Amino acid sequence: MQDFWQDEPILKQELKLVGDTIREAVESSHGFIRPILLSHVQSGGKMLRPALVLLCAKLGKEFPREEAIRVASVMEMIHLASLVHDDIIDTAKKRRGMATIFAQVGAKQAVLAGDYLLAKALSLISGKEKQIESAVVSNALSRLCESELEQDAGQGDYFISKQTYFKRIGGKTASLFALSCYAGASTANLSPVEKMVCHRIGYAMGMAFQIQDDILDYIGSDKKLGKLTGNDLKCGIPTLPLLLALESEQQEAVKELKMLLTSKKTMMNASSVKKGVSQVIALGGVQKADSIAESYRMRALRDIESLQNQEVAKQLVRLFKKLAVRSA
Ligand code: FPP
Ligand code: MG
Repeated sequence: MQDFWQDEPILKQELKLVGDTIREAVESSHGFIRPILLSHVQSGGKMLRPALVLLCAKLGKEFPREEAIRVASVMEMIHLASLVHDDIIDTAKKRRGMATIFAQVGAKQAVLAGDYLLAKALSLISGKEKQIESAVVSNALSRLCESELEQDAGQGDYFISKQTYFKRIGGKTASLFALSCYAGASTANLSPVEKMVCHRIGYAMGMAFQIQDDILDYIGSDKKLGKLTGNDLKCGIPTLPLLLALESEQQEAVKELKMLLTSKKTMMNASSVKKGVSQVIALGGVQKADSIAESYRMRALRDIESLQNQEVAKQLVRLFKKLAVRSA
């Protein structure tokens, strides 16, 4: 977090306050789970969702600083809770270079720890957030859960359509980005049209972000990511680089990849994962996925250009550029 926001000192300071708010909320947790939750919430993510809340909250005439920081903290805590649950579903041992809560205390207690974080997030809601329509919040969180359910039910099926993939990542990632922008815009009392534009910016940004995340699962470095690459393929989760590689016209190579994907009844072993990863790269899957991520970025940039507040618009553009070249 520290390095990512070094060019944005004011935002960095506000995000520190978000971090403090989250830490204070978690500090009152049950003694057994407190240290584990504290290290999870302080594990140094980029805090993108709260940053989007804050930036969109600055689009109005006045910046409702206190409320924006509280709403930003709620968004980050929902995200952190979803990661706790996601690591159980993915049986992930590492996140951000640290042992996951699942790896530390097992699935049963990790489920409860995630629930606990959600409960603590609710404790930050004051009841004054009337401008944030509950239907928009409920819709985003329902989509988050539905997409994870759908992904899990389809685990091991590598041959899904791109439409299914886009719907999936729309739900599991873009919906929370969109909600963050919408919530920020709502705290600033923006008009319904402006709130919709912010929602759209968040959605497109979330889509580009998740596609890039999925690309990094093929070409990233374990060390930089703080988690293992090739994990999606290993866990039976098809993502855009694979789907695009399967569309390649290099028929023989595609046939070989398909054989690898269908020959495994159980989880792929390390050497099959390695082979699959290099086949996807060689078939141009990563490159093609990158250009689709770029088209989502362009979509968001067009909406950003329409924002009245040029200062915030410039900050959003800088954030986009930084995210586009991230390697973790
Ligand atoms: C990471 O995806 C996971 C998500 C973005 C969402 C997870 C959502 C749930 C588990 C639903 C539960 C929701 C709540 C509110 C508790 P990934 O596995 O592709 O990314 P990763 O490589 O970072 O794990
Ligand atoms: Mg995961």
